[in-house]
Amino acid sequence: MSATIIDGKATADSIRRELAAKIAAAVTQGRRPPGLAVIIVGEDPASQVYVRSKSKLSAEAGFHSVKIELPANIRQEDLLVTIGQLNADPLIDGILCQLPLPGHLSEDATILALDPDKDVDGLHPVNAGRLATGLPGFVPCTPLGCKVLLQRYDIPTEGRRVVILGRSNLVGTPLALLMMQKAKGANATVTVCHSRTKDLAAECARADILVAAIGRPRMVTAEYVKEGAVVIDVGINRIDDPAAKSGSRLVGDVDYDAVMGKVSAITPVPGGVGPMTIAMLLANTVQSWERRLG
Ligand SMILES: NC(=O)c1ccc[n+]([C@@H]2O[C@H](COP(=O)([O-])OP(=O)(O)OC[C@H]3O[C@@H](n4cnc5c(N)ncnc54)[C@H](OP(=O)(O)O)[C@@H]3O)[C@@H](O)[C@H]2O)c1
Repeated sequence: MSATIIDGKATADSIRRELAAKIAAAVTQGRRPPGLAVIIVGEDPASQVYVRSKSKLSAEAGFHSVKIELPANIRQEDLLVTIGQLNADPLIDGILCQLPLPGHLSEDATILALDPDKDVDGLHPVNAGRLATGLPGFVPCTPLGCKVLLQRYDIPTEGRRVVILGRSNLVGTPLALLMMQKAKGANATVTVCHSRTKDLAAECARADILVAAIGRPRMVTAEYVKEGAVVIDVGINRIDDPAAKSGSRLVGDVDYDAVMGKVSAITPVPGGVGPMTIAMLLANTVQSWERRLG
């Protein structure tokens, strides 16, 4: 079977172009651009890379992009003061605090301090509740990126069996809620698997659409995949590779070469779900801006 390669990079590029065109048209009419504030605490190298990329791509798309760098030893109350200022700033539509935070800071307290209507990462419990109850709100960017990829590739979900490997608050759980919603691009029959699931391979092999979000390099092999299934690989894992110049490379949770002969469509790693995450952050911020401007 020749599989469709779901190109997340090209899809994310075109979504960003669509957003940029919308912003340019509004600015030409005298409206202010959408404002996105990204907070980074400390010097974590991976977080620095993500934040740089978020700031660069949002500025390129015409956003009012604000990057706030705070010292690793900042006190919780001072971080909350910064969030409070951004909550009150009329030029800011979306606030993201890059995780993980240094160990002395509470991620829960930080997320709770965000105005839920500016929480474009969709992590505030109010937005989690809105998603669970079908109310409009912000959906976390990576699960939203998975859904949009399926839609843009015309992969039907209604009545289909979706199996999600992983139940984190960041990916697996919101994706399950999203896919089982009574809504267009959803209406799936969803199963969520995790580290205590019995006979994982058999559960996964029932999936019409299998999503892997576990952080285990290439764990999903051919026996996990039904003939003709669609596979969405969320995993990003760095493994040693003596042949690579850097000595390492990125792989997903799916053994791409092993499942390729069975799947009807698959996302690669890198270049699949990863680029969609930032595109969805920008899309959520534009949604917030449109709501705010009325
Ligand atoms: N593409 C992107 O932009 C993006 C964004 C976010 C995350 N990611 C990647 O996605 C992966 C998952 O991220 P996450 O934040 O959801 O990770 P996480 O918080 O560590 O959650 C992992 C989930 O996988 C389950 N799991 C772990 N090992 C398992 C096993 N051997 N069998 C079955 N289930 C297992 C865990 O089960 P328990 O609940 O039972 O512990 C947990 O529910 C990581 O590789 C991460 O780097 C990518």
